[in-house]
Amino acid sequence: MRTQVAIIGAGPAGLLLSHLLHLQGIESIVLEMRSRADIEATIRAGVLEQGSMDILNEAGVGERMQREGALHHGFEFAFGGQRHRVDLTELTGQSITVYPQHEVIIDLVAARLAAGGDVRFEVSEVALHDIDSAQPSVTFVHAGQGASIEADFVIGADGFHGVSRPMIPAGTREDFQRVYPFGWFGILVESAPSSDELIYAQHERGFALVSTRSPSVQRLYFQCDPHDKVDNWSDDRIWSELHARLEHNDGWKLKEGKIFQKGIIGMRSFVCAPMRHGRLFLAGDAAHIVPPTGAKGMNLAISDVRVLSQALVAFYKTGGEDGLNAYSETALKRVWRAEYFSWWMTRLLHTFDDASPFERRIQRAELENVVASRALRTALAENYVGAF
Ligand code: FAD
Ligand code: DHB
Repeated sequence: MRTQVAIIGAGPAGLLLSHLLHLQGIESIVLEMRSRADIEATIRAGVLEQGSMDILNEAGVGERMQREGALHHGFEFAFGGQRHRVDLTELTGQSITVYPQHEVIIDLVAARLAAGGDVRFEVSEVALHDIDSAQPSVTFVHAGQGASIEADFVIGADGFHGVSRPMIPAGTREDFQRVYPFGWFGILVESAPSSDELIYAQHERGFALVSTRSPSVQRLYFQCDPHDKVDNWSDDRIWSELHARLEHNDGWKLKEGKIFQKGIIGMRSFVCAPMRHGRLFLAGDAAHIVPPTGAKGMNLAISDVRVLSQALVAFYKTGGEDGLNAYSETALKRVWRAEYFSWWMTRLLHTFDDASPFERRIQRAELENVVASRALRTALAENYVGAF
């Protein structure tokens, strides 16, 4: 087989890139190791920046998102028994939309297939070859048969554990990493929302987050030991932990409901630089990971793809490689700002077991400063909505 662009991974990065290229008349094949049903049901991120919405709308896949997504103009910080609103729209003129990642995936898969796109699910043994040459190729197994694709470019959009990044020789790339000593326990609950806006809570027992998925399904997270087991957490234990971290004496109560999904996410910051080697280009989690506190993971995957699609389109239209040569540096500028913001939000809001009493007081003082200072709130809001 031959195609112009071979894409490994049908996450937001791979699927959106394939669709943006298709809209410009560029062919691609997407190879995904999991089934369509599996990728369409995996619960992940929820927050979309306005810029991400704009790209999805421009790609013609935003119709359901606009109808079903919930526009949020602010969020709340809770600490020290009080809640403080950060008014995103007043501070930045922008807002965010809560629309689950798996719904974005459902919309993108439907758009690719409706346009006759070539997305192969349940492939295995994906291997990259000759990425240093002008004719790279990808071999894989599909439906029990070995196959090979020759392409002009290979895109590694296969997430943190994919096969693409390790193809960049160790001596030509640098990995930057921080692993956090905690994770997030995430649940999905059948109930009405407890709050109109997201609540990010800092508490001595640990961080907690109230988010939403729809008027009848809520998403809640709380800081936990990353090595803990889901089975150690009965529903009663989860609710009592969430009540303890989120409720104060102001009359606000967290609504309970049937918990129908539980999971633990580890937390790390990671950047691989450069995001390119020869004809291999990395996009999204394949190149970088952020802790989820800033809600940046899916948004970064989308912004990488915007830059990369423009560079590939320019190459096919003019033969010019300036955009391709600038891709890594351009994408990494935004990546590092999001890495900084995600690290900062994580440090601001989580309980670090090894923090000294002095460091705990400094953390509280920083939170007090943020909510008291319009300048600091503006900087936070600009980062949160992705206004840069
Ligand atoms: P992915 O979505 O990871 O897609 C990569 C795809 O490649 C996958 O479908 C995978 O199956 C496929 N693949 C991998 N290896 C191969 C291979 N060898 N061959 C073929 N296919 C392969 N971000 C937030 O902002 N907020 C959150 O709450 C949040 N929660 C998360 C929870 C979990 C459990 C995880 C893993 C991530 C979470 N994230 C969150 C991060 C966010 O979901 C990611 O940043 C986003 O999915 C990145 O998109 P991507 O397309 O780069 O990678
Ligand atoms: C969600 C996830 C986040 O990481 C975040 O900061 C806000 C919301 C969510 O899954 O809804």
